[in-house]
Amino acid sequence: MKKQISPSVMCVDFFKLKETIEEFEKLNIDYLHVDIMDGHFVGNYTLGTDFVKALKKETTIPLDIHLMVEKPESVLEWFEFGENDYVSVHLESTCHLQKVLSAIRAKGAKSMVAINPATPICMLETILEDIDAVLVMTVNPGFAGQKLVKSTLKKIADLRAYLDENGFENVEIEVDGNVSFENATLMSKAGGNIFVAGTSSMFSKDFSLEYGATKLRESVNV
Ligand code: DX5
Ligand code: ZN
Repeated sequence: MKKQISPSVMCVDFFKLKETIEEFEKLNIDYLHVDIMDGHFVGNYTLGTDFVKALKKETTIPLDIHLMVEKPESVLEWFEFGENDYVSVHLESTCHLQKVLSAIRAKGAKSMVAINPATPICMLETILEDIDAVLVMTVNPGFAGQKLVKSTLKKIADLRAYLDENGFENVEIEVDGNVSFENATLMSKAGGNIFVAGTSSMFSKDFSLEYGATKLRESVNV
């Protein structure tokens, strides 16, 4: 599967947002990872509905909207998204998972289920037909700059094998959290193919976005 990168927009310097988006376009970035948090499912707030609307107006880069919210089925309609966009909801955040995944597809987008580090792969068994990707959280969600939960590396490999053995070779695996250059290589070898770039890769203070994107691409194309 093509290795793709999805910079986490919550890590962008908001006072340079427009020029950063323009640079992402020049760098042929695959997705823009947009973290939405409600202060309940995770103890933080980040970006919102108007921000997503503005992004859709500003760029044609597909969005990768990560809903870290309780009962995502009750807020989905508030967000603007469509063809080529990914929208992920947390398995742990709703008792209507199949319904909300179907609603994402009904709006023309690709559906992604996100699972926290402690959530086992077997919980995906009954919704494999309803997803285009799985988002494996490699940190506990809520904040940028956290450290990798090491057990998630084996989880990525187990998930890739599980999907392939059950005829879901086309379901992609996105990884999110502490995707450093070193961790990205391990995550890629394990089977991840969409990489959320945050503070430990593209948004490090030590180098340019272009350097970070180039190095991350080298790290994952192993
Ligand atoms: C955390 C978010 C991530 C975060 C990644 O809950 O889902 O997308 O921005 O940041 P790093 O890469 O610094 O962990
Ligand atoms: Zn995220």
